Amino acid sequence: MMTPLALSLFFFFGIASGAVPFNYTNQIAWNSLFGSFCSGGRQSPIDIITRNVQGGNSTLTPLRMTNWDTSVNGYVLNNGHTLKFSPSSASSEARVQTFISTYKLLQFHFHWGPNNMVGSENKVNNTFFSGELHFVNQNVSAVNSVGSQFTVVAVFLTADSSVQYSGSVWEKLTESIPAFNATRSIQSITYESMLPSNLSYYYFPGSLTTPLCNEIVEWFVLQNPVSVPMEFFNKLRTLNDTNGDPLTLNYRDVQPLNGRTVSGYTVESVSGSIGLMSTTTALLAFLLIAVLANY
Ligand SMILES: *[C@@H]1O[C@H](CO)[C@@H](O)[C@H](O)[C@H]1NC(C)=O
Ligand SMILES: *[C@@H]1O[C@H](CO)[C@@H](O)[C@H](O)[C@H]1NC(C)=O
Ligand SMILES: *[C@@H]1O[C@H](CO)[C@@H](O)[C@H](O)[C@H]1NC(C)=O
Ligand SMILES: *[C@@H]1O[C@H](CO)[C@@H](O)[C@H](O)[C@H]1NC(C)=O
Ligand SMILES: *[C@@H]1O[C@H](CO)[C@@H](O)[C@H](O)[C@H]1NC(C)=O
Ligand SMILES: *[C@@H]1O[C@H](CO)[C@@H](O)[C@H](O)[C@H]1NC(C)=O
Ligand SMILES: *[C@@H]1O[C@H](CO)[C@@H](O)[C@H](O)[C@H]1NC(C)=O
Ligand SMILES: [Zn+2]
Repeated sequence: MMTPLALSLFFFFGIASGAVPFNYTNQIAWNSLFGSFCSGGRQSPIDIITRNVQGGNSTLTPLRMTNWDTSVNGYVLNNGHTLKFSPSSASSEARVQTFISTYKLLQFHFHWGPNNMVGSENKVNNTFFSGELHFVNQNVSAVNSVGSQFTVVAVFLTADSSVQYSGSVWEKLTESIPAFNATRSIQSITYESMLPSNLSYYYFPGSLTTPLCNEIVEWFVLQNPVSVPMEFFNKLRTLNDTNGDPLTLNYRDVQPLNGRTVSGYTVESVSGSIGLMSTTTALLAFLLIAVLANY
């Protein structure tokens, strides 16, 4: 068991420098990384078996998004494990309110596979989607404190040859893929353009899906996939990893439920508003920032 000091020193010199080495060919090795939670009891991703999903739980509420329909500028980074978009600090802050708390959107990134038959991290009925988009959000009341929790809004992506790449948000994100550890600026995108109109979701407690797999994430996986152009995935597969090799696969294998319940929330009517509201709006802090450096 590491002392808190040892742990913080590890985070300081280990994660903060982006130095935790991992790859997707040997995921078992993640378990033995120093300070790893990857073999814990509430790991992500999971296989969602729909007949076991608990419906009609009145605790669950619709996802309420604020500023997800506002145009933002930012940049994409190739961190060697994914392509990650972060909004510029000047962009209006986007939030999501869940039945648990309110969270601020920090970044989104993608998971994919070597072909369009695989690539999502979570599965439904043991079936993959072509990819998965993760919107990573942080508890606004806990940005700099212990007990801080993240919420990931996950969107399944289906490669579809009938969807036009040219002029789409998918093209803006991937028309040119930055080299490892490089960024490229992106202008005028909206998060809403990457969401399905129906925000029905599966909810379960889980973890980060990259080392150190910290068990600090509430998962809201949208039930309805979004169709994306084929070219989008072809571009993602050209992203060079930390070794300079094309990253053709960056999904973690599904993890055991270990008795967790997956709950479902179904949107019964999709009217004019889809729950998107338009309004303009020290050590542990460091540790959390450090954890996210790899995510
Ligand atoms: C993947 O990681 C394992 C464990 O660190 C390492 O032994 C292996 O060489 C790595 N593979 C590649 C292709 O980098
Ligand atoms: C409803 O779901 C929440 C979140 O998963 C859970 O804590 C609660 O126990 C569930 N309620 C019932 C009645 O199952
Ligand atoms: C999953 O399988 C069940 C049968 O067990 C089926 O009723 C359901 O429609 C399937 N769901 C999806 C999203 O494929
Ligand atoms: C959000 O942060 C506040 C302040 O630290 C904390 O009291 C609360 O429990 C956190 N909520 C969640 C869901 O983590
Ligand atoms: C990946 O690296 C190779 C070899 O260095 C280079 O030719 C290629 O342009 C790089 N691709 C991207 C998208 O950076
Ligand atoms: C990534 O780039 C930063 C400067 O932007 C540099 O300090 C850092 O060493 C680079 N990391 C790697 C692993 O190349
Ligand atoms: C939203 O999606 C869910 C899951 O596919 C479906 O059961 C529900 O009927 C949809 N709601 C509307 C209003 O279409
Ligand atoms: Zn992810």
